[in-house]
Amino acid sequence: MTGKICGTGSCIPEAVWDNQKLSEMVETSDEWIRERTGVAARHIALGEETTVSLAAGAARAALENAGMSPEEIQLIIVATVSPDKLMPTTSCEVQKQIGAVNATCFDLNAACTGFLFALNTAQAYLSQGIYRTALIIGAESLSQLTNWEDRSTCILFGDGAGAAVLRASETGIYGLVTHSVGDMGEVLTCSSRNRKEYANGPAAPETYMQMNGKEVFKFAVSKVPEVIGELLEQEGLTTADIRYFLLHQANERIVRSVAKRMKTDMERFPVNIENYGNTSSASIPILMDEMNRKGLLKPGDKLIFSGFGAGLSYGASLMEWQ
Ligand code: UT7
Repeated sequence: MTGKICGTGSCIPEAVWDNQKLSEMVETSDEWIRERTGVAARHIALGEETTVSLAAGAARAALENAGMSPEEIQLIIVATVSPDKLMPTTSCEVQKQIGAVNATCFDLNAACTGFLFALNTAQAYLSQGIYRTALIIGAESLSQLTNWEDRSTCILFGDGAGAAVLRASETGIYGLVTHSVGDMGEVLTCSSRNRKEYANGPAAPETYMQMNGKEVFKFAVSKVPEVIGELLEQEGLTTADIRYFLLHQANERIVRSVAKRMKTDMERFPVNIENYGNTSSASIPILMDEMNRKGLLKPGDKLIFSGFGAGLSYGASLMEWQ
């Protein structure tokens, strides 16, 4: 038994901050940001928009796409590194907003690898027959953790949410390889949460994301091809068997470098970071939703999802589009 994806959705904040706007905030330029990251603009959650509202919006869109009612969902997992609150969990807040009264809900934090780990977790429940339906969501308001005076990080990140509905299926394949390297945790940290808590005074530095971008970059371009290679070998497949590689949209240069190292055409490594920036756990499901809605994913297509990020953690999962 596996879980097949039967619906996808996403929810993107209305406000768009392009590179020009950022160049008015820090010393940078549209040219530098595009060249080094591939990002042209990112969406920022403002006003009533929160991690919960984005997650709920993506969930509703995915349920509609699946033709399912919220009551049919038995499990909700939200992957997020930027929850609005520690308690109640984002997943329980989503449950309340969408009326998924029969679901068991929990959050999962694996930073940018979060959606991949949520997908693996849902697959484990579905393949064991514990639940027959699941809703998994990657949702982030990274703008709350971003130091808007630090040009080495603020140019990269954006807000948004993506979701997928899964149903247990007698057919289909699923494989995964995951790793964590806690020894490298210091290269990407945020040791206290949510800037909103510090609204009355200058925010403490530890409330912002701190990143050694170069180290994360080097890690990603070496470990992502390696883990995809491990997964392919484990499943007895080659790159030629894979229709698309959906990578965490961290930086377009990382995706290009992985494609090059794997000697695979960029056409099979879709990229949408230009319009959203790096949305951490939301990037893979937003990309998948865009591709699904464009009709690019066909039954029988073998897909590899690969994520990496703070922890550090990384992994790759294989599934067939049904
Ligand atoms: O989502 C998972 C976790 N995150 C990632 O995967 C991020 C991985 N890392 C990256 O994407 C890249 O390292 C960054 C986009 C963050 C930075 O790009 P880079 O090519 O590694 O730049 P750098 O930090 O090596 O800086 C190169 C130069 C430096 O100037 P000097 O020392 O060469 O004179 C920086 O001071 O560019 C300068 N610089 C900038 N210039 C204009 C750094 N940030 C900026 C900026 N605008 N925003």
